[in-house]
Amino acid sequence: MAAEKRENWGSSLGFILAIAGSAIGLGNVWKFPYITGMNGGGAFVLVYLFCIFLLGVPIMLCEIAIGRRTGKDAYGAFKALQLRRSRLANLFGVMLLASGIYLLATGGYGFAFITLVSALLLLKIGFAAVGLWSLLAAMLILSYYSVVGGWILEYVWKSFSGGLNFENVQDAGEAFGAFVDNPHRVAMWHLFFMGLAALMLIGGIQKGIERWSKILMPALFLLLVAVLIRSVTLSGAGAGADFFLRPDFSKLSAEGALVALGHAFYTLSLAMGITITYGSYLAKDRNIFSSALWVVLLDTVVAVMAGLAIFPAVFAMGFDPAAGPGLIFRVLPATFNHFPGGMGWLWAGLFFLMLTIAALTSTAALLESGVTFLIDQFRVPRLPAILLVYVSIGSLGLLACYSTTGWEHIPGVKSFLAAVFGGDFTVNYTNWFDLLDAFTSNWMLPLGGFFTAIFVGWIWTVRKAGRELRLGAGDVVDSNLITLLSGFAGEPRYRMSRNQGLTVMTLWGLLIRYAAPVIILILFLKAVGVPVGF
Ligand code: PHE
Repeated sequence: MAAEKRENWGSSLGFILAIAGSAIGLGNVWKFPYITGMNGGGAFVLVYLFCIFLLGVPIMLCEIAIGRRTGKDAYGAFKALQLRRSRLANLFGVMLLASGIYLLATGGYGFAFITLVSALLLLKIGFAAVGLWSLLAAMLILSYYSVVGGWILEYVWKSFSGGLNFENVQDAGEAFGAFVDNPHRVAMWHLFFMGLAALMLIGGIQKGIERWSKILMPALFLLLVAVLIRSVTLSGAGAGADFFLRPDFSKLSAEGALVALGHAFYTLSLAMGITITYGSYLAKDRNIFSSALWVVLLDTVVAVMAGLAIFPAVFAMGFDPAAGPGLIFRVLPATFNHFPGGMGWLWAGLFFLMLTIAALTSTAALLESGVTFLIDQFRVPRLPAILLVYVSIGSLGLLACYSTTGWEHIPGVKSFLAAVFGGDFTVNYTNWFDLLDAFTSNWMLPLGGFFTAIFVGWIWTVRKAGRELRLGAGDVVDSNLITLLSGFAGEPRYRMSRNQGLTVMTLWGLLIRYAAPVIILILFLKAVGVPVGF
């Protein structure tokens, strides 16, 4: 047992803002608004909320509880909670082994290798493998997320120096293309951006991440409110709000529901070890339920506000929205440039500053997962741990910088990938972003979520996890929901009894043991191309 006491968050607010900082990121600003506009506006938001509450919140509760119970990094936490070798882990291990052998026989060596290594890991160290996976996912995501952070910094710079005065989307697009085709500059910004995030961690939890989150998150909110107000007061703004939020149930498809489900995971930064890591610094008397609800509320509000800052402006200036990075780096610069009064540069600058903050706090969270792992598992002091993650993952990120416009900038990588993963691979994935985004979002995150739910629901058991969740939460979580919601909770005759039926706690147990694994499995099978009936 480590003699040293683990540092804690100084306040619930600090914890909530730090987790919100990890959750609120690029996903909220460029992904959520667009997928909402495409999939039926307000109708999609309803489905999204449903997914957030059905899956997002219950799994977030699991992760915080796993972290707080063990006071360890993601790997150490799973390892500590798994009392002995589990038959379930062996079963999954054998299933993976069989798939790996099948892949080997059918020629996908690269995929076979990854599957076999995962299988052996599961067989060897059981569910601790899930902790390692989530850390790996965090590090892989970090390596390209920070590159996008660097792009954003370039755009802050360009806004304030008057470099975003584009007549139309095409000009803006060409400028963006020329920028990413200059990998040295991109690499410089990427290393600078990740350096900023690393600086946030130096002071530790309270004096580092918490202090910075308490400054940066309110700043983000204010900037967003300012841009939103400017945007919705432009003449012709209504069409944008209409595109974004008007409920259109005819556009809501099964596909859309899957998109909502996937995004719920991504936006809450689940299955990446982050929430476990942050939870490991949480004091026992803090209320996990209310913290999680606050985080989800803030995350959702910011996503909706981002949409209201973006689309009204885009439509008012007569442009069409585009998907993904195109919206931010091509359409928006041209949009801002047409703002009345010649002040477009200022609004562009404020918007990109807001986006910088959003990406920065998420990057810091990703870094911290790796740093806490090194501290807990290898007793590396904090500063060298930060440096180690910075240098190694920063270097890995160079692959993203140098492959944005194709693999050609990096000698040998293309033929290597083609040899290992098959001929089509480098055609389908033309850069490190696409490759890692697909691999982490479609495979690692769903699988991580699935195993987290299985682990808490069936291995650690909801009863033990529930004991952790109850600390600091009060009786309310064990009150009958009907009694509670109907307002009778305080009455003596409705006092808690041994048979309470549906409570917050039992509802959570049902969701974790049954709903989450089943839903995620269906999503996963669908995403990897298995026909599952819809
Ligand atoms: N939740 C972040 C977002 O919405 C995405 C993210 C993923 C952040 C992974 C950190 C780690 O953008």
